[in-house]
Amino acid sequence: MSTNLKLLNTRDRFGLVSRFFHWTLAVLIFGMVALGVYMVGLTYYDPWYNRSEVIHKAVGIVGATLVLAKLVWSWFSPLPDHEPGLRPWERMAAGVVQRILVGLMIVMPVSGYIVSTSAGAPVDLFGLAQVPALLPKWVWLRDAAIQVHFVSVYGGMALALLHAAAALKHHFINQDNTLRRMTWG
Ligand code: HEM
Repeated sequence: MSTNLKLLNTRDRFGLVSRFFHWTLAVLIFGMVALGVYMVGLTYYDPWYNRSEVIHKAVGIVGATLVLAKLVWSWFSPLPDHEPGLRPWERMAAGVVQRILVGLMIVMPVSGYIVSTSAGAPVDLFGLAQVPALLPKWVWLRDAAIQVHFVSVYGGMALALLHAAAALKHHFINQDNTLRRMTWG
């Protein structure tokens, strides 16, 4: 089978499943941030005021589930070695940024869930199911979760853009396999 179609990661490239998680989550995260920024700019009387919030919460739960599945998968299929030719500081920087991004992918939806359920209401999943509110209605917890949600989202965006810029720099300037092994190349 072509190395592009392998499900599992190999020592030198990402398998289909990891690539699916990476690109689905990247699109979902950028989309959720865009929706979130749009949402907080709306006034109470805008028809999208409630709708956008309902979508943001439901997609957030879907994203959190995907992140969980991605973590379980990376336990079965360990990440490839770094691209050969990277300098030691580049390996270290890539590893640290990727770990922080994974951490933020957990912090973003968890803090969002705490804010969403802080009044005791469950999160509706497209009318198909509900995720119950499990935590006590502490005001300090809600306030802390709001701060954490904003800082993790904006910090995560800055880091994700840096990470994407580094991948593009390796592709177009260094012309190595960094981006190819996460895509079809
Ligand atoms: C257009 C945007 C993006 C590009 C071009 C891109 C590119 C890449 C590439 C080329 C790799 C493989 C690096 C290696 O060989 O070690 C990678 C890995 C990774 N990326 Fe991205 N990425 C983007 C967006 C994101 C976003 C938004 C996140 C999360 C917030 C993210 C999180 C990760 C993580 C955690 C890894 C490590 C592998 C894994 O755990 O699946 N990336 N990315």
